[in-house]
Amino acid sequence: MNSRSRSTIANCRLVELPKFLDFRGNLTFIEGGAHVPFPLRRTYWIYDVPGGAARGGHAYRRLEEFVIALSGSFSVALDDGRKTRSLLLNRSYFGLYIPSKIWRSFEDFSTNAVCLVLASLPYEEEDYFRVYEEFRRAKELEP
Ligand code: TYD
Repeated sequence: MNSRSRSTIANCRLVELPKFLDFRGNLTFIEGGAHVPFPLRRTYWIYDVPGGAARGGHAYRRLEEFVIALSGSFSVALDDGRKTRSLLLNRSYFGLYIPSKIWRSFEDFSTNAVCLVLASLPYEEEDYFRVYEEFRRAKELEP
């Protein structure tokens, strides 16, 4: 999508990844620019999440991301300043694309869940909206 236009929940999408079923164990892969609509610059993962804890709870000014439940399950709560939606990720061959300027948090982790995030940019604290009201104001100014 055009980075100048308003990002909405409708721009967040589940992507089914290639899956090679094999009696020795299944295999799924990702190529940046093909399955994920941006060049990959960074990856990180969230694990050992205690029951009832949530991660995230912020938005990015420029960063786009692709989120996969590599193991177990968790919910992704999305908020574009006008609408909210929650999606359950529980298959390692599905990923959720989230454009910039979407407030998101990861919640309801199952035991041993692993959340893999592919990101379009290196870590930059300045790219974060950490304060929800600041995010809301920025969304109101978007075209
Ligand atoms: P953060 O993205 O703030 O996660 P959450 O919103 O769930 O708390 O990451 C937590 C801290 O980890 C952050 O303050 C700095 C560090 N961090 C890095 O150094 N590099 C990274 O790629 C990420 C994602 C986090």
